[in-house]
Amino acid sequence: MSSDVNTTSLRQLSILVLHGPNLNLLGQREPEIYGAITLDAINQTLEQIAAAHNARVTSIQSNHEGVLVDAIQGAFRVYDGLLINPAAYTHTSVAIRDAIAAIAIPTVEVHLSNIHKREAFRHHSYIAPVAIGQISGFGDRSYRLGLQALMDWLRDHDQQAAVS
Ligand code: DQA
Repeated sequence: MSSDVNTTSLRQLSILVLHGPNLNLLGQREPEIYGAITLDAINQTLEQIAAAHNARVTSIQSNHEGVLVDAIQGAFRVYDGLLINPAAYTHTSVAIRDAIAAIAIPTVEVHLSNIHKREAFRHHSYIAPVAIGQISGFGDRSYRLGLQALMDWLRDHDQQAAVS
């Protein structure tokens, strides 16, 4: 379903947005890599985009792996989809990967920087194999593209379920 379809007659989507460690420092953290935008500004933009598409986002940032795992487990039957920037845990966390797989929540992985263009240790993602897809390298636009992709995927899925 394309993003310009009128969504007001469709069910409201609930999306959980998770930001991993150090993303609370966006705006001051290595701006040459991550840009000057703050996490609050990113979250506000996501809320606006979601509202325009009859969706609701809840955003959580944590520097702690277990908090992120708990948030994913708590999303079971509460949220329709997960938009996640696991930050450094992308490259280390079997626990986050397993939590996503355990509740089988449709997930889009996003990164501000292009992780494949950076140090070798950033090239591998534990999350990518359990995600619908990954968007990496577009700065804060990665989040916007990721949210749009997730909402489109969920609407398509609803439509397929309705006709089958
Ligand atoms: C990041 C990329 C990761 O490698 C890094 O550890 C981050 C941010 C990004 O958004 O570009 O903290 O996920």
